[in-house]
Amino acid sequence: MKILIVGASGLIGKALEKLLVNEGHNVFVLSRSVSSAQENKIPWDPKRGNLDPSAINGFDAIVNLAGENISTRWNSGRKKLILQSRTATTSLLCSAIGKLAVPPNVLINASAVGFYGSRGEELLDEDSPSGKGFLAQVCRAWEASTHQAKKIGVRVVFLRTGVVFSPEGGALKKMLLPFKFGVGGRIGDGKQYVSWIALNDLIRIISFCLNNPSIEGPVNATAPHPVTNAELTEALGEVLNRPTFMTVPKGAVRWIFGEMGDELLLSSTRAEPKKILEKGFSFELPELKNALDAVGTLN
Ligand SMILES: NC(=O)c1ccc[n+]([C@@H]2O[C@H](COP(=O)([O-])OP(=O)(O)OC[C@H]3O[C@@H](n4cnc5c(N)ncnc54)[C@H](OP(=O)(O)O)[C@@H]3O)[C@@H](O)[C@H]2O)c1
Repeated sequence: MKILIVGASGLIGKALEKLLVNEGHNVFVLSRSVSSAQENKIPWDPKRGNLDPSAINGFDAIVNLAGENISTRWNSGRKKLILQSRTATTSLLCSAIGKLAVPPNVLINASAVGFYGSRGEELLDEDSPSGKGFLAQVCRAWEASTHQAKKIGVRVVFLRTGVVFSPEGGALKKMLLPFKFGVGGRIGDGKQYVSWIALNDLIRIISFCLNNPSIEGPVNATAPHPVTNAELTEALGEVLNRPTFMTVPKGAVRWIFGEMGDELLLSSTRAEPKKILEKGFSFELPELKNALDAVGTLN
């Protein structure tokens, strides 16, 4: 297939590009950091609303991963950027798709388990309704901004991704630091669920969705066994052979991280990847302990 990745310079995009090239696809990237069209690289300027539709004509598939990083303290300006870097970019992309002589067969659009909000122990599959909070609002708007592609019959998949575990960076790298210094521990009461996924399984899910025309709509891109923060803490301590007796009280999380702490560290999302399992996807790293070993937390 001829595939375009948007936001390919990020954690997921880089790994995905490698996988798709290895699978024999012809991969192009759409990036803000490209000034003019180069080999397999197409420029766009979503901030100014600039995207030449003819530049993205003739692709079989588009994977849109673009979005500003969410893990720095939120203020109103930052929240606006988090939202618009997803909704305005996706709308711009989909409006260009709507003008194409040869639109893609499929658009795989990033979303997140934040769609469900904080839901305690409730098991959340793709039919579960959206929840409360800023991230839920962002994810709803993000998914809705694909409507122009849907309208012309493009198969659209929303990847409701959990916390991605990778040795290359992202959330796990940040989590590991206190553990390495022997001060790792639970956050709050540790009962909140973390829906996680190993990076390699996530990019395999994207490839699976590209190749499976019967998959459409939301897909929970999470490992089949979400864990509580207490279980994650214990597993990290075991894998790194470090103590885990510290606890970061809820109040301290809120004081240090503000609203972001509430939504990213204290909220509880227990998602299950029902749709992808029903379609026959097989996880290489379904269990947390194996995933932590495999992503090289020991290094
Ligand atoms: N990593 C996770 O744990 C996780 C979990 C759930 C959902 N997701 C979602 O999956 C997507 C990819 O995640 P990731 O971890 O690979 O993210 P990332 O490393 O932060 O990369 C995101 C990419 O988006 C583009 N981008 C950044 N700011 C932008 C802006 N203001 N406007 C337009 N494009 C912008 C950049 O590409 P260029 O510089 O090339 O344009 C960047 O490489 C994100 O949308 C994220 O919200 C990630």
